[in-house]
Amino acid sequence: MSDKKIIISKGNNAAAAPSASLRAGVEKDDKTLDLTLRPVTLSEYFGQQKIKDNLEIFMKAARQRGEPIEHVLLYGPPGLGKTTLAHIIAKEMQVNIRVTSGPAIERAGDLAAILTNLQDGEVLFIDEIHRLNKVIEEVLYPAMEDYALDIIIGKGPSARTLRLDLPKFTIIGATTRYNLLSSPLRDRFGSTYRLDYYNPGEIEQIINRSAKILAVKLVEAAAKKIAQRSRLTPRIANRLLKRVRDYVQVKGDGVINDRLAQEALALMDVDHQGLEALDRRILENIIEKFSGGPVGLNSIAASVQEEEGTIEEIYEPYLLQLGFLTRTPRGRVVTELGYKHLGLEAPKEWQSKLI
Ligand SMILES: Nc1ncnc2c1ncn2[C@@H]1O[C@H](COP(=O)(O)OP(=O)(O)OP(=O)(O)O)[C@@H](O)[C@H]1O
Ligand SMILES: [Mg+2]
Repeated sequence: MSDKKIIISKGNNAAAAPSASLRAGVEKDDKTLDLTLRPVTLSEYFGQQKIKDNLEIFMKAARQRGEPIEHVLLYGPPGLGKTTLAHIIAKEMQVNIRVTSGPAIERAGDLAAILTNLQDGEVLFIDEIHRLNKVIEEVLYPAMEDYALDIIIGKGPSARTLRLDLPKFTIIGATTRYNLLSSPLRDRFGSTYRLDYYNPGEIEQIINRSAKILAVKLVEAAAKKIAQRSRLTPRIANRLLKRVRDYVQVKGDGVINDRLAQEALALMDVDHQGLEALDRRILENIIEKFSGGPVGLNSIAASVQEEEGTIEEIYEPYLLQLGFLTRTPRGRVVTELGYKHLGLEAPKEWQSKLI
């Protein structure tokens, strides 16, 4: 049991729960779209089969025992369905979900207010959990482990300690940066799932489902084309579908056929593998300025004038997934496939860079 305490002094507005901060970088348009297209049951949630199989057993067992599920941690690149899955878990468990995020919880009192307002069995979803500050994290440990908060009321000689029992709640944490989570925090989750990129067939299913919701007709070849450029990511697949739909509405008769899909996609700066300008620039820079690598993330970031975190979180995972880039102990190396994609020939000795 931890002896970490929360100090709530007079004047601390602990009752005001912080509002959930929305993830920066997602356009408003996409947020609304995300909401309409977001699956609400596990059966509408395509792909991630292993995670779903595990979750089904895990949730069924908890339901049979009449207990809330243990804390769940979801991690993986943006747009793969972490938030969606958190909502689905709460729905399947037939409990309420409260939503907050790491940066929104600024003080220990904020967290105390949120936790004490929960009902038995409820889910507290903490998005961007890697951004919780360390003080808050330490308050969270006993709360997650023992469902208790130790609070000091008042100051000086008249101060009293109060142990507050919390309801049996479930925390679902989501993060794109698993490596930034401290290990004591990681250890307090009963299960941890890594969401991976989808396969093209699954993305196609997602596109077809979304097309139905958007009431737009889509031929199979067009769905395939969109899937191919979606970076194997549902959020991007939905976004591309919506742009193609706009194009077809204006230029065609409302049906997304192969040719119109091709034309619409050609207008966007996305190549047939889903790479955007910055992805290509990263590969080109490593090749031109660092002779294909190995090169450290900080040098890559400086050369393309982007933040290291953005490259590591958003761009690099997909380049690694495609096998265009690889990680070695000495840094990143562009692979033969990466050279090929840019229409270049890999130097003969590129394999030797991998050691
Ligand atoms: N398995 C899935 N099946 C169908 N649609 C999905 C699936 N996963 C995600 N989506 C769609 O993709 C959108 C983005 O998913 P979500 O917001 O859950 O991603 P995320 O992992 O939380 O991303 P971020 O890291 O940016 O918060 C959802 O609104 C939903 O429409
Ligand atoms: Mg999310």
